[in-house]
Amino acid sequence: MQWWNAGVVYQVYIRSFADSNGDGIGDINGLRSRLGYLSDLGVDAIWVNPWYQSPLNDGGYDVSDYRAIEPRFGTLADAEALITEAHAHGIKVVVDLVPNHTSSEHRWFQEALGSTKESVARSRYHFRPGKGADSEEPPTNWSSVFGGSAWTRLADGDWYLHLFDSTQPDLNWENQEVRTEMEQVMRFWLDRGADGFRIDVAHGLVKDMSYPDHAEEQEILISSQASDHPFWDRDGIHPIVRQWRQLLDEYDDRILVAEAWVAADSLPRYLRPDEYHQSFNFDFLSGSWDAAQMQQLIASSLDAVAAVEATPTWVLSNHDVVRHATRLGLPQDTDWRRWLLDGPHQILDTDLGLARARAAVMFMLALPGSVYLYQGEELGLHEVWDLPDEVLDDPVWERSGHTMKGRDGCRVPIPWAVEGPSLGFGSGPAWLPQPEWFGAASVEAQQAQPGSTLELYRAALALRSKHLVGDAEAEWLDAPEGVIGFRRGSGVECWLNVSGQTMTLPTDREILLTSTSVGHELPVNSAAWLK
Ligand code: GLC
Ligand code: CA
Repeated sequence: MQWWNAGVVYQVYIRSFADSNGDGIGDINGLRSRLGYLSDLGVDAIWVNPWYQSPLNDGGYDVSDYRAIEPRFGTLADAEALITEAHAHGIKVVVDLVPNHTSSEHRWFQEALGSTKESVARSRYHFRPGKGADSEEPPTNWSSVFGGSAWTRLADGDWYLHLFDSTQPDLNWENQEVRTEMEQVMRFWLDRGADGFRIDVAHGLVKDMSYPDHAEEQEILISSQASDHPFWDRDGIHPIVRQWRQLLDEYDDRILVAEAWVAADSLPRYLRPDEYHQSFNFDFLSGSWDAAQMQQLIASSLDAVAAVEATPTWVLSNHDVVRHATRLGLPQDTDWRRWLLDGPHQILDTDLGLARARAAVMFMLALPGSVYLYQGEELGLHEVWDLPDEVLDDPVWERSGHTMKGRDGCRVPIPWAVEGPSLGFGSGPAWLPQPEWFGAASVEAQQAQPGSTLELYRAALALRSKHLVGDAEAEWLDAPEGVIGFRRGSGVECWLNVSGQTMTLPTDREILLTSTSVGHELPVNSAAWLK
């Protein structure tokens, strides 16, 4: 068994985790100072969102130098120290790599801007003449994931492609120099001890080079799962991944994790033995609070990865989606991306959402495979859905013409303390304002508080490493309607009461942990582990 087969990976959104120098921006030294917290929590690894030199137009997913650290986050020496210190705590470090696009400030793009049409410099990106006599129409009707056209025009008439913001030009992966450079970048970080990469937009690298129009409209922040799409999930991606995998296999123990928002039946292709080790399983995140649906989704996820002998993964939240405590407190079928702006906001039941979030994480942590946690979920944090418009930073807000609020509400700096200028995040105000209720949800407030969500996570992670990581089996148990039960190889059982009524748990088993303390009576929206 490898460390990642059942690893608990904690996602650190570096900008919002901990600020060491009081400038309001989280940084590497802030993260270093909190490694003790992460080790007490019981995580096996951290995945750190991009920390490279960047104008931060898209929170660092716009990289201007892949071998340098953004000065606001620290220095290369800080990053090296972080990796060493994390390893000393027994924590692996997964780095976020952004190969689909660079920042427009990257030296390659700057060189392309200063070069002629059809130059070598422009061939590293997707530059095309436009349509119409004067090239005034974009080359295709493709839309950006953040809204608006995916093409921007230069003064000389050429257009360049950007699936995301206009400051994030897409690289041309048919260009050998692009491939070689990204491999060198991988070596750079592997040689510094990085334990692997989370590959950003893994399903977008390869484009249909005949640049056809596409009939389907792009929904903001959602990747289409249509087959034969001109830029999502194209077959040409897989040979690139195999090259990367060979490179990683020269080192011991490193992993590749795909961020691939693709159809469920396509995902296993990314997980073939010579490709990615893991891919986020977004089906679970996108699923609804319904026992039959959840059970079906889990069974098919387990089958899909078993077919390619890969590891199942589970995730409830990340820096791109509304926090799950909030999603689960909204009526079924609410479009939570749009709800942020459109509301109605009074339909949110925060207590219900938190109860479900606590149950959901216990359920997820009991499943075979690896788990990804997003910073702050261990505090039961809700989405900060009411950030004022003036502070919004996600490019989605502007690019959508103020019709989508974007992802800032899950990126608000972490409350470490009950009081203080940024609740222990740093010594001054944080880059995004923290709401009033954050102090009561802080680490300080929950630390050593029986029943707090933080203590639930700690207890669950400790029990998980003891009872729930030795095997890959889960046997479904007979359960009343609206309840899901399964047993792991160790004999530990997990029960989740999704709808239905209070359920009496088998009384001949010892209770290890529950998301609500009620003896053998398991109320709705709660979970229990039994032995
Ligand atoms: C991924 C990241 C997201 C970013 C986008 C463009 O989806 O998770 O935060 O905006 O890629 O790099
Ligand atoms: Ca700072």
